[in-house]
Amino acid sequence: MGVLQQPTSLMPAFANFSAQSRCMCSTTLPVTETRTESSLLPKVKTRPKFDRDFSEFLTDTFGRQHSYLRISLTERCNLRCQYCMPEEGIDLSPKEHLLTTPEILKLSQLFVQQGINKVRLTGGEPLLRKDLLQIIEGLNTLRPQGLKHIGITTNGITLARKLADLQAAGMDQVNISLDTLIPAKFEFVTRRRGYKHVMSAIDKAIELNFSPVKINCVVMRGTNEDEVCDFVAFTKDKPVDIRFIEYMPFGGNQWNFKRMVSYQQMLDMIRDKWPELERLSDGPNDTSKAYKVPGFAGQVGFITSMSEHFCGTCNRLRMTADGNLKVCLHGNSEVSLRDVMRSGVSEEEVLEVIGAAVNRKKKQHAGMSSLSKMKNRPMILIGG
Ligand code: 5AD
Ligand code: SF4
Repeated sequence: MGVLQQPTSLMPAFANFSAQSRCMCSTTLPVTETRTESSLLPKVKTRPKFDRDFSEFLTDTFGRQHSYLRISLTERCNLRCQYCMPEEGIDLSPKEHLLTTPEILKLSQLFVQQGINKVRLTGGEPLLRKDLLQIIEGLNTLRPQGLKHIGITTNGITLARKLADLQAAGMDQVNISLDTLIPAKFEFVTRRRGYKHVMSAIDKAIELNFSPVKINCVVMRGTNEDEVCDFVAFTKDKPVDIRFIEYMPFGGNQWNFKRMVSYQQMLDMIRDKWPELERLSDGPNDTSKAYKVPGFAGQVGFITSMSEHFCGTCNRLRMTADGNLKVCLHGNSEVSLRDVMRSGVSEEEVLEVIGAAVNRKKKQHAGMSSLSKMKNRPMILIGG
């Protein structure tokens, strides 16, 4: 449980973040024009207190307590998944715009002290980040302050050989992306080779007792909807949790309603083959609806972001690799924590900026048709 803690000094090893000078607070603005301005911050906190034990900074006006932070470590990726990367590619931020390891750890500590108990590292492909091990080791030192889980979402290409070290450094959860069980189709969807590497990463994760080993599968009509039952069959002997994800629109991914396969449609396909499919119970902030074929080693789940959003129980915040805090995956408002931090303000002031952004979080994101027209970053720049 997050406790309302006054920010203390940051970990000495990462601290060159001085508590001084003026407040450079930011406001939420569309992706292209993040700015810093102190006058827009509320001077007095007016939001209702829902739970005295949880940080006010991380509680929004609807009482949602944000205890889960996703941090994107890089904009780069060694795959080019069609649903994630725009066809024309993306312009990478200059290196100096990206958060450094000490900055990531400083911000993480600040968040953990306020009640973040789970951090997931994403990308792009987080394994491309050379200092990944140090980042995980640094995060691991935050456990006594309340961090319970350190996870990663990876495409698995280089995971098999690194996984044991990552686990030893403190990583305890792994999500691997895999959209097809057919090697040639893998190359079509990801525009790169690597099916065998991903499969060995899955086996390695099972061998190292990650439990559950989660596999993300974005289902698209005309691409892999014919494999939904094959993926379920894959859970017969493998103790994995396949999470079927509804195809979502992001900047430049050519989303089209006709290509989206809904939760209900997937469920119908599976029930045709396994009428005994059993609904399992979900955790309070789970984004996935869990099911299992009785007797199978693994299970499946559905992430119904499009057909049944889960905004009401959303406990997530996101930080992009260039240091923008995004309070909603499907919202285009962002605030640059990097700029605020680099301006040399105090921890309290950084927290004020975070609190103001959380306070502006909307009750729910726009509907499907507006989302597809809305300006947002490509997924690769948000963090899958
Ligand atoms: N729709 C749904 N999920 C997506 N991801 C990326 N792009 C999309 C999209 N358009 C998710 C996938 C992938 C992870 C990195 O991000 O789950 O496994
Ligand atoms: Fe890379 Fe993941 Fe995007 Fe695929 S979905 S291009 S693996 S970041």
